Amino acid sequence: MEHSLIETLKRKAAERAASLVRSGMKLGLGTGSTAAHFVDCIGEMARDGLDVVCVPTSERTRAQAEGWGLRLSTLDETPDLDLTVDGADEFDSKLRLVKGGGGALLREKIVAAASKRMVVITDASKEVAQLGRFKLPVEVDRFGLNATRRHIEEAARACGCQGPVVLRKDQDGKDYLTDGGHPIFDCDFRVIPDPDTLALALNAIPGVVEHGLFIGMASAVVVADKGGIRVVGKLEG
Ligand code: A5P
Repeated sequence: MEHSLIETLKRKAAERAASLVRSGMKLGLGTGSTAAHFVDCIGEMARDGLDVVCVPTSERTRAQAEGWGLRLSTLDETPDLDLTVDGADEFDSKLRLVKGGGGALLREKIVAAASKRMVVITDASKEVAQLGRFKLPVEVDRFGLNATRRHIEEAARACGCQGPVVLRKDQDGKDYLTDGGHPIFDCDFRVIPDPDTLALALNAIPGVVEHGLFIGMASAVVVADKGGIRVVGKLEG
């Protein structure tokens, strides 16, 4: 699919999610190229009078929202949100997601967990029968990196996952660091036979700050395809 068509589809998914937004709502703003379309939609609606308060999931999204003059808050000031809209790197029919390709998984997960509803917006290329095609990001503490990597590999193996666990680098070849100052391991498992068990196993590793498996968090995925918009899960209320 060509780039401009994909961007059009992302925008359509974002518009569908934006149609859920009402004045007075407290919103979580996701990160990534699809979530950026949602921020644009909300920016345009705010310009036309929509009154919402927004908590961004990354410094990138904060800058974009500030550019639109959106009213911003933090989870310290606004700990309970009505709706978070975010993208995903892949999702399955059980609304399980892999996120964190853009490195914002920790804040994305904290913000989604603080929200009554999380709605995911995607184009159809993100839908998979089984999670794992996208490299699973695992955010870790800088202390004890190789010991943590070994524990990730062992936990993964016990859950039927094998493949390289590689430290993410930035464009300059230095260790990539998240907004929170943590490195990320990208796990090239290809197939994750039991995402629920793997999520629990990764949570149990001391050096793991957070991982990109979002399970039981999304209430709906809005999928934009050439044929139109499809919703997996429940969009309203
Ligand atoms: C950011 O950390 C990610 O979780 C993004 O939400 C995810 O990678 C989707 O990004 P795109 O919309 O750019 O594909």
